[in-house]
Amino acid sequence: MATAPVRQGPLKGVEEWDDFVAGRYREGKDQSQFRIYDEKANPSVAEFYRLNHANQTLAFVLEKENEYVPLRKGKKSIWDAAKYLNTLVDDSDPDTDLSQIEHLMQTSEAIRADGHPRWFILTGFIHDLGKVLCLYGEPQWAVVGDTFPVGCAYSDQIVFPEYFAANPDIQVPEYQTLYGIYEPNCGLENVHLSWGHDEYIYRVAKNYLPEPALYMLRYHSFYAAHRHGAYRHLMSAHDEEMFAWVNKFNPYDLYSKGAAKPNVQELMPYYTGLIAEFFPEEIDW
Ligand SMILES: [Fe+2]
Ligand SMILES: [Fe+2]
Repeated sequence: MATAPVRQGPLKGVEEWDDFVAGRYREGKDQSQFRIYDEKANPSVAEFYRLNHANQTLAFVLEKENEYVPLRKGKKSIWDAAKYLNTLVDDSDPDTDLSQIEHLMQTSEAIRADGHPRWFILTGFIHDLGKVLCLYGEPQWAVVGDTFPVGCAYSDQIVFPEYFAANPDIQVPEYQTLYGIYEPNCGLENVHLSWGHDEYIYRVAKNYLPEPALYMLRYHSFYAAHRHGAYRHLMSAHDEEMFAWVNKFNPYDLYSKGAAKPNVQELMPYYTGLIAEFFPEEIDW
């Protein structure tokens, strides 16, 4: 008897989550409808969030920060990481799906077409490189998905909030007050967000890009805050200011997918120059 291929999680590929988010915020779509619609029509996405919300505890996040924040996974160039990420293929339909590099270039080319600064274009190009976490063996629920603070009460603005009932932190009263383990308006740099590809690429790029770029990288999946205005009580005035950039970035991440397939070979020299302008040949991952 043939055995079924081993799948890492409920999603066919990590881009299935990106597609879900893009669908969620599709223009003109009634926000109250999306959950009901997607839970039924997309059980794998619902199952993904069930796992994500149940397993992203404060203890888990601290463990992953200890493991990855020191950047001990070796030296790689940005290109090496992009090529490495490209090996993360969706087995469902390799002909029609965009490769990871193509998604990154669609995002950055859309930013470039709008005349934004070079650091902004580069940010678009690298924003999802943190997904290499999948290739280190992390489950999908610890790589993609909406991010949210841990160690304090969950906002009902987070998608599928009812799934937090299965998170062990719900039993810890200290973690379930409005501020939890944090101080009022302490600033997001002092807040632990659920672990995933945002935090990881932020850590990798931290020494090389300007602050607005770092906010875009670090909080691009924090939809409860940048789309729904939640967690203002933890944010500083500086965070508020910087979130204008996160909001500026978001449409390029969500809506550039419909654009023409970028010609990676043709664009390679431009991106090689752009990367070299900000990053040394190899950086720590
Ligand atoms: Fe992302
Ligand atoms: Fe993305």
